[in-house]
Amino acid sequence: MALEYRNNELYCEDVPLTELHEEFGTPLYVYSRTKLLENFQALDAALSGIDHVTCFALKANSNVQLLKVLAEHGAGADVVSGGELLLARKAGFPPERMVFAGVGKREDELEFGLKEDIFCFNVESVQELQLISRVALRLQKTARVALRINPDINAESHPYISTALKEHKFGIPAGESREAFRVAASLPNLEVCGVHVHLGSQIVRKEPYTAAATFLSTLVRELRGAGISIAHVDIGGGFGVRYKNVLRHEGLPEEQDDQESIPSPAQFIDTMLPVLRETGCRIWLEPGRAVIADAGLLLTQVLYRKENRSKRFLIVDAGMNDLLRPSLYNAYHQIVPVRIETYEHEKTDIVGPVCETGDFFARDRQMPKTKQRDLLAILTTGAYGFVNASNYNSRLRPAEVLVNGDRVRVIRPRQTMNELAQ
Ligand code: LLP
Repeated sequence: MALEYRNNELYCEDVPLTELHEEFGTPLYVYSRTKLLENFQALDAALSGIDHVTCFALKANSNVQLLKVLAEHGAGADVVSGGELLLARKAGFPPERMVFAGVGKREDELEFGLKEDIFCFNVESVQELQLISRVALRLQKTARVALRINPDINAESHPYISTALKEHKFGIPAGESREAFRVAASLPNLEVCGVHVHLGSQIVRKEPYTAAATFLSTLVRELRGAGISIAHVDIGGGFGVRYKNVLRHEGLPEEQDDQESIPSPAQFIDTMLPVLRETGCRIWLEPGRAVIADAGLLLTQVLYRKENRSKRFLIVDAGMNDLLRPSLYNAYHQIVPVRIETYEHEKTDIVGPVCETGDFFARDRQMPKTKQRDLLAILTTGAYGFVNASNYNSRLRPAEVLVNGDRVRVIRPRQTMNELAQ
């Protein structure tokens, strides 16, 4: 297993996390190459037998060394900025397996995508279509475009990361989609090739996907009826992962979890496949979290313990600048001691050093008793972890290491004071 206790000591593959701390310090993002690959391959295999491209959504994690692992194993790339396009190219993703998404692409980014000959742009408005057409004309290129349609489907996820209701900024409203396709087909230097939907992120039920598949197949049929040929459907990403009780051990408290049975990515895909298969389209998908979330953890050290009459705090050396999800979404991450030395539990807040009350990783969390200088692992932080790291409070960005069996490689050195002061 990628993450397990051996003699009450936590290992990532064959490397004890205490060793990583000694060598590289904390806060430190640690990734398992084996787990990353296993996740990607399981997902990709769910579509074997059907023409498809599994793109990785770089927004979840854009470390070039991690991207290289995916690119080498046949993944495509879903990028949302010129920066991500650059990193995707550097990692070796072939342009014909790249899609460029995003509600506000700038002209220079469109130009970059066209010059790189990416597979297609997922377009979110008629004005964007017009701009791409103008840029493509100027460069004497043909831009392949898929239209992102907002299907008005409730993803039932956190409101900040649900994206497919009509009040959201994303996509072209379903009611206007036929007209938008008609405009796209009439503009010069555009080739309409597909339809795109993305429902949101951390989706834990199958129903929104079933609804999306039906929506897509109906739309494809109607468009074809209107003489517009659609060669692919892109179903976006969004597959939810488990955050609670990820690691189990008799010394760890069990969390109440109302989501014991989150479908696997393969199960999500299975619910859509019969309907999508009928369209005869090539299928594209863009998972981020399901590929990399549980392949990463954030290692941190307890700096101080602090108690008052009503509260207990563990102050750790990672802060909201290293991992923003708890502060931003009140997101839950399991936090475990690297060494289990006692089976005694206590209730505590786990907080960072940043000067904000919102700088917390857990509140009133039942935890094994922990001492000053103990190491903690904040689990399932491979997705939307480092990518949201900042220099807030002028703290240095954390380092990242990649574990493969008993080997460890620094894939991003810790930022230095000199770099900060530039
Ligand atoms: N495709 C599009 C168009 C997207 O907007 C996203 C994510 C994905 C694919 C990948 O979704 P995934 O498979 O990772 O769920 N920062 C938030 C998540 C934001 C998701 C943004 N869009 C978090 O930490 O939960």
